Amino acid sequence: MRSRYIRLIMIVIGALALGCTPKEESAPEREVAAPAAAEVAEVAEVAVADPKAEAIEIYENRCTVCHGKLGKGDGEGSAALDPKPRDFTLAEWQESVTDEHIQKIIVYGGIAVGKSATMPANPDLDAKPEVVKEIVVYVRNLAK
Ligand code: HEC
Repeated sequence: MRSRYIRLIMIVIGALALGCTPKEESAPEREVAAPAAAEVAEVAEVAVADPKAEAIEIYENRCTVCHGKLGKGDGEGSAALDPKPRDFTLAEWQESVTDEHIQKIIVYGGIAVGKSATMPANPDLDAKPEVVKEIVVYVRNLAK
């Protein structure tokens, strides 16, 4: 009597397990949709209270080492670099590049615009377009 009961439970569990299989097979379909949703989440903008202040902080913390505090391309890390970091004070260079180009090299790095890979990417800034715009303004103002 008791072993019959256990066998019945086993059959029910077995049936449930089989019932799950088709669902598992359909899982890859959902996985295809998942990265798309993740991408959307990744570029979702992060609200920044003071983009200008954060831009200045980022320039000082991440850019001066190569481009120099005044943007002359003479930061302490620049000596060993070839090509040299861009001198932002040159008017001809400023005129030759669009804001979009500068935004792109800041977020995606030198490689993304056909420049040296030593110009690093800042992927975290992809979520902070307001801050990136203010960094561009900062870079532009170094020529003034
Ligand atoms: C490790 C050194 C290094 C750091 C840090 C660095 N850069 Fe650069 N950057 C370079 C080098 C080297 C180049 C020149 C690349 C070339 O000419 O191929 C460059 C080029 C550039 C250019 C010119 C692109 C062009 O098309 O002429 C811009 C704009 C720029 N960097 C912005 C920044 C900003 C803003 C930061 C900080 C967020 C930064 N860089 C941090 C090394 C650096």
